[in-house]
Amino acid sequence: MIKRYLRLDFIVTIILLTILSCKNQPKEEVDLASKIDRQWWKEGTLYQIYPQSFKDSDGDGFGDFKGIIEELDYIESLGISSVWMNPFFKSPLVDNGYDVSDYRAIHPRYGTMEDFEEMLKGFQDREIKFVLDVVVNHSSDQHEWFQEAKSSRENKYYNYYHWWPAEKGKPPYRHSLFDPDGGWDYVEAVDAYYLHTFAEEQPDLNWENPKLRQEVYDIMKYWAEMGVDGFRMDAFQFASKDTTFPEFPDGHEKDFIKWYGLRPQLHDYLKEMYKEVIEPYNVFAVAEGAGSTFKDAHDLVDSDRKELQVAYHFETVDMSRTTDGYELSQFKDVFSRWDDAFAENGWLAIFLSNHDNSRLVNRFGNASPEFRTVSTQMLNTFLLSMRGTPYTYYGDELGMTNIDMPTIEEYVDISAIGDYKMASAKGKDVDEFMKQLNYASRENARTPMQWDDSVNAGFTKGTPWKRLNPNYIQINVAKQNSNPNSALNHFRRMTKLRKDNLVLVYGDYEILQKEHPSVYAFKRTLGNDKMLVLLNFSDENSTISLTEELGNSNETLINNYEELIIEGNEASLLPYQAVILKIE
Ligand code: NOJ
Ligand code: MG
Repeated sequence: MIKRYLRLDFIVTIILLTILSCKNQPKEEVDLASKIDRQWWKEGTLYQIYPQSFKDSDGDGFGDFKGIIEELDYIESLGISSVWMNPFFKSPLVDNGYDVSDYRAIHPRYGTMEDFEEMLKGFQDREIKFVLDVVVNHSSDQHEWFQEAKSSRENKYYNYYHWWPAEKGKPPYRHSLFDPDGGWDYVEAVDAYYLHTFAEEQPDLNWENPKLRQEVYDIMKYWAEMGVDGFRMDAFQFASKDTTFPEFPDGHEKDFIKWYGLRPQLHDYLKEMYKEVIEPYNVFAVAEGAGSTFKDAHDLVDSDRKELQVAYHFETVDMSRTTDGYELSQFKDVFSRWDDAFAENGWLAIFLSNHDNSRLVNRFGNASPEFRTVSTQMLNTFLLSMRGTPYTYYGDELGMTNIDMPTIEEYVDISAIGDYKMASAKGKDVDEFMKQLNYASRENARTPMQWDDSVNAGFTKGTPWKRLNPNYIQINVAKQNSNPNSALNHFRRMTKLRKDNLVLVYGDYEILQKEHPSVYAFKRTLGNDKMLVLLNFSDENSTISLTEELGNSNETLINNYEELIIEGNEASLLPYQAVILKIE
């Protein structure tokens, strides 16, 4: 009897405990849910496609929409959640499409509007969101607006651009990012100079003109109605500038954004854009650039501001642009400072590469045949385990590398050619300049996607617009698909891990042993979920002791080597080893 009584008591206790824990669980979830503002553009991974170089379907040597359609299953297999595509609009292609001459038309090189719609549907069927590149700090000089504007001061499009009337004398010096001759160009018909922050074929649009702003919102609505989910605002910080055009002090170009953009009116424009487009169409916008300070960045993306949703800063890519390399301490410091500044409000993209930088593995990892796979895996583990939305540039899932281009004759990029002219004009050491260009030029990252080891890497049946990297024989999708330990399959495991674990998206970030010279270690915590990320940034073995975090209860969630050696509280990491552990 007593036994039965005891047993009943035991059962009642268990029932009570279960009821209590059920009550507790929803509470914790409720707490977490009220703490996190869940959004699709925060979760998952964004994949960036440079359409000209992804896949050519018609043998003209240029990537196109039909080629992308052929590879939709590949894109889906990456486990990414959205795609940002570089510009494919009608354009004279002076800056590879960042000079748009009709924002509602497709450049025939990429296909037709029907092809675009088919591609978009292909993404939608796979639940992949689509982000459009909106290039509206400037248009092409071939755009109808500019063609009209430059015909007469009375023309209704004249005030779509910035002009300095010649009767006021020469305009105050303005630096141009692409043009060694500076940022003003003279047009005889109107006897005035127009402003261009980039090439002379890219005149800056006048955002102070409400008519121009309305045109831009109409363009954005046109694409939103077609079904695009987000916008990447190109060079948008320059949309607002001091249009009294005062003289600037010598050397001002070093703090370019401060002098050339980001005037307070920018926020009025963004708020207007939010009301007109972002909110009613339930889309999102990410700005290229995040100002010069945390305050600038917060003012752009904090949710209560109702302006933009995401921004990306350049502090990390900026430290990687010379052959001297970068310091891990500086790298950790930048990411930790930005994370800290955005822990409570605002959201950032996390990236180390894109179409404006050379290849990820060359700048931040180790591109030698011995280490390129492991170091690519390590970098992708980093990108996909940080707070913020990871942006992955096509080919970096494979560890595609820089292409060797030692002489200027081979370059087609307006920025490389402009920089070369500026360096020569200033009497700089040309050999040194070419060495740096070969290392950091963005053309390195525009070579055709490496699909297999057949002719032209399966990119085209014609002549590719740009020389392929000869290492496509070793580095290609087909080869990596069949190897479970490839960079590609590691990338897929990482996107899945991130998708399955909200802690990797929203969890708090805490750096551990910040001073460690070769290991980047950090912890992510969300409620009871804790993960420890250990990344060896060096080509040698490294050990790290973590008294609190490394215990008996570690479960390895991902590892780019077969083994992980932990003895007591010390982990020994092989060159570029990357592991994520679930910890208590
Ligand atoms: C930034 C873009 O990313 C870059 O590729 C382009 O050259 C400039 N903006 C000008 O649009
Ligand atoms: Mg083609």
